[in-house]
Amino acid sequence: MIQNPKRYTITAALPYTNGPIHIGHLAGVYVPSDIYSRYLRLQGRDVLFVCGSDEHGVAISMKAKKEGITPQEVIDKYDGIIRKSFSDFGISFDNYSRTSAKIHHDTASEFFRTLYDKGDFIEEVTEQLYDAKADQFLADRFVVGTCPKCGNEEAYGDQCEKCGSTLNATDLINPKSTITGETPILKSTKHWFLPLDRYSDFLNEWILVGHKNDWKPNVYGQVKSWIDGGLEPRAVTRDLDWGIDVPVEGAEGKKLYVWFDAPIGYISSTKEWALREGKEWEPYWKDQDTKLVHFIGKDNIVFHCVIFPAMLKAEGSYILPDNVPANEFLNLEGNKLSTSKNWAVWLHEYLEEFPNQQDVLRYALTSNAPETKDNDFTWKDFQARNNNELVAIYGNFINRVVVLTNKYYNGIVPQPNELSEVDEATLTELKAYPAVISSSLERYRFREALGEMMNVARLGNKYLADEEPWKMVKTDPDRVQTQMYVALQIAAALSSLCEPFLPFTATKLSRILKIESPLNWKTITDNSDLLPAGHQIGEAELLFSKIEDEEIQKQIDKLEATKTANIAENKKAEPQKDLIQFEDFAKMDIRVGTILEAEKMPKANKLLILKVDTGIDVRTIVSGIAESFKPEDIVGKRVTVLVNLAPRNLRGVESQGMILMTTNAEGKLVFVNPDVDGVGNGETIN
Ligand code: MF3
Ligand code: ZN
Repeated sequence: MIQNPKRYTITAALPYTNGPIHIGHLAGVYVPSDIYSRYLRLQGRDVLFVCGSDEHGVAISMKAKKEGITPQEVIDKYDGIIRKSFSDFGISFDNYSRTSAKIHHDTASEFFRTLYDKGDFIEEVTEQLYDAKADQFLADRFVVGTCPKCGNEEAYGDQCEKCGSTLNATDLINPKSTITGETPILKSTKHWFLPLDRYSDFLNEWILVGHKNDWKPNVYGQVKSWIDGGLEPRAVTRDLDWGIDVPVEGAEGKKLYVWFDAPIGYISSTKEWALREGKEWEPYWKDQDTKLVHFIGKDNIVFHCVIFPAMLKAEGSYILPDNVPANEFLNLEGNKLSTSKNWAVWLHEYLEEFPNQQDVLRYALTSNAPETKDNDFTWKDFQARNNNELVAIYGNFINRVVVLTNKYYNGIVPQPNELSEVDEATLTELKAYPAVISSSLERYRFREALGEMMNVARLGNKYLADEEPWKMVKTDPDRVQTQMYVALQIAAALSSLCEPFLPFTATKLSRILKIESPLNWKTITDNSDLLPAGHQIGEAELLFSKIEDEEIQKQIDKLEATKTANIAENKKAEPQKDLIQFEDFAKMDIRVGTILEAEKMPKANKLLILKVDTGIDVRTIVSGIAESFKPEDIVGKRVTVLVNLAPRNLRGVESQGMILMTTNAEGKLVFVNPDVDGVGNGETIN
């Protein structure tokens, strides 16, 4: 870990411009990186915070195909939406670029060329997956199959999002083209490979030895398992038509792999910033005094901890990240966030429903940040955080201070009299907070830091509640002057201590208190006279307002509607099976029956043992419905039974037939119910 860095380069994962961004992106990457950057700026550090749109790769091509527009149209649309969301939520990038920008194409090409000229790539003709119907090679998201490491059936050609493994497309078991659904064939093609195996000693020394204690266990653990598992050469070029041209001869029609060019986007974004600001970009990437920190989600760990560092190392003139504080995932109301399933709270939609309440979302997401494990966002929690914490503690404290100061002293900070023991203790406690919050932030513990910031508001709230100046104002006005002075100091400190987390609130509070620019945290530690006697403050304004049950219910209903819509979508009838002849059908003997008894099969989760009156006889049928029905609920049920199915032995019980089932609109198993009164058991169905 670098001590006393001269400057900081902070990067946030470049979002793919194939959709808008949602709360998961904000919680995992953009809010923590923004808190960190804002915090460092408040300490007067030299900070560069960069990001940009990730506009190459198969994700974009696929979206274009799906919407029937060009990739360029896709990226222009979402780059615009994403930029606006970031700026609306106060994400304070110093520069936000795009990988479609010329400066990026040039930077990425040059980087490739440098490695190529140094002989850092292996050039090799290999057999790759090819979709003959689409006349296209299949890589990355153009192919899905079963992950050889964890068995996830929806692993992509370059990565399994379930277990985080990086894959080669040819590793997939049972691969299928996502373009046509066809099983690919193998076809020869030439590519350039980065021989990661050559970097395993370097990675081992640098991360496994060097960062054992300062990197998050989830990050360290993932990296360790890859290195221990043995690294292999990875293709960094692709046969695709959307991306950056491979800048060497004999590579016509080939593009750089998106994960080769995208992280270089951090560098090109820095160059773009430097050009605009008349600064030099190189110190931010090449000077050993610079602390480089990558904020990402856990699915990006391998790219930022193995592949990109290997590229930087190969190039030779760059620094390596000091830390990669990757987060786990955020879920929404118990389910995985999903762009394609529309299971998300989209930032642009949130602002339509909760205008000017960016800080409430920032607060809720940070309080519940998925720092060490996956976490769940629920609307009820969001409401509780707002009503019970922001309104009841923070807002309440500030409101009392400002209203009383205006009421008693026309908004002028009163002259304190002699400080009581409680006053001294309170001010001493206040002075300690900058160090406490900093210590958490320096270790990337954002939830903890936020909790400490709120403890400052709690300190103020408690002070006023205990002191009760509103009761004492008639009897001991001198004492009240001191009390209000103390409370005002806490309010002033809060306006700066909350800034990284709640920037809009900080601005508003500073305006109310008439504080020109945010207080340096060192000032808060060194000096308790933050708002001196005689300073004029402004009128009270509400910082937070209560969120009612109806507003929350509306959001919950919206998600319910999404669920129903997804089920309807998935309900598209399955394609018809091959034709059969009437004789085939006539062979099946299907009868109406009644379930007489039902019990669970011991030691089996899914199976029920049923006694069914088929009209012919009473027989035993084993049915895989135990997860959907309780035995006691189905006794007496009229059912449809295939009676001449050859008996089968299931866990030692002979099953003599099959109960016909289907699924309902919610995807639940239901009986194919004869539903006709007066039809006796044993009636045939034809
Ligand atoms: N677009 C990638 C994603 O959303 C992140 C790219 S990060 C960068 O998962 F390093 F490549 F820029
Ligand atoms: Zn896997």
